[in-house]
Amino acid sequence: MRSTDLTDIAQALVADGKGILAADETVPTVTKRLGAQRIESTADTRRTYREMFFTTSEIAQFISGVIMQDETIRQKSAQGMAMADVLSRQGILPGIKVDNGAKPLAGSPVEKVTEGLDGLRERLEEYRDLGARFAKWRAVIAVGDTLPSATCVNVNAHALARYAVLCQEQGLVPIVEPEVLMDGSHTIERCEEVTGEVLHAVFNALYDQKVFLEGMLLKPNMVISGKECTIQVDTEEVARATLRCLRRHVPTAVPGIVFLSGGQDHLAATKHLCAINQLDGPKPWQLSFSYGRALQDEALIAWRGKAENLKAGQQAFYHRAKCDSAAALGRYGPAMETDSARI
Ligand code: 13P
Repeated sequence: MRSTDLTDIAQALVADGKGILAADETVPTVTKRLGAQRIESTADTRRTYREMFFTTSEIAQFISGVIMQDETIRQKSAQGMAMADVLSRQGILPGIKVDNGAKPLAGSPVEKVTEGLDGLRERLEEYRDLGARFAKWRAVIAVGDTLPSATCVNVNAHALARYAVLCQEQGLVPIVEPEVLMDGSHTIERCEEVTGEVLHAVFNALYDQKVFLEGMLLKPNMVISGKECTIQVDTEEVARATLRCLRRHVPTAVPGIVFLSGGQDHLAATKHLCAINQLDGPKPWQLSFSYGRALQDEALIAWRGKAENLKAGQQAFYHRAKCDSAAALGRYGPAMETDSARI
């Protein structure tokens, strides 16, 4: 794979007004989400759920790529087409989550290290043959009075870089996702400090391991107060802190930054993204979204596992993706949420 091919894919994923749908929940996680709507989780209902998103009419105006997980990329649609082909036919790039999950970190078991490097080269080869063009690996960093430990930050940064360079070797664009969690009572200032330290360690590791920055995307958390923090700041302050932190720590060679939603509700995730894009001053990367829950939640509730609600689910997804696309252009406003704007 030539470096120009990696750059082309990375740039296509963050083309103006486009972002990524993260539909890569593991089987236990998607089972929990379906269960909350009293939907039985079987290989078939999981496929139908994912297919609802993938086949939404004209969704490629807003969605450039979809991250699948192992089960989905091996499944066939109701019409018997491989899921990666379903996406490609829509003009959407197929992606794949390749980490094996966050496991207790030996030596500091309240923290996590993401596993999955053993055999990764062979798995990447297989996923590429199944149609994947990009990949994702998520590291999770918990915040507390004495957390994160330097060990946790460094081992996760090292693994992210090992993963990223292997992806590029195999012609897949790596999405590098170091997620500083919203769980806890920490302030936004503490989130900014930890996010900065983590990004610094991650880009050091990427540099040490010769990752080609023009052929990757960063998927960070926004800088935000902990969920249980008594001081919840306004949208503007989240935007300013997030952009300040990214300017300090993310090289301009990286073509795009696609935020995770991380437990924010869908409206907050849209408003924050728009506010970030509306800020003055240099923004040398595309700033877009790679949301999971914030893109899926309304559609899941509208669908509730019933064939007769499939269109309603797709309409809800279309609407949210359109709002997030507008936010990525700095053009979202509350008027977009009115009933008349939804039609
Ligand atoms: P959320 O947007 O629900 O945080 O999911 C994004 C993701 O891919 C987490 O790894």
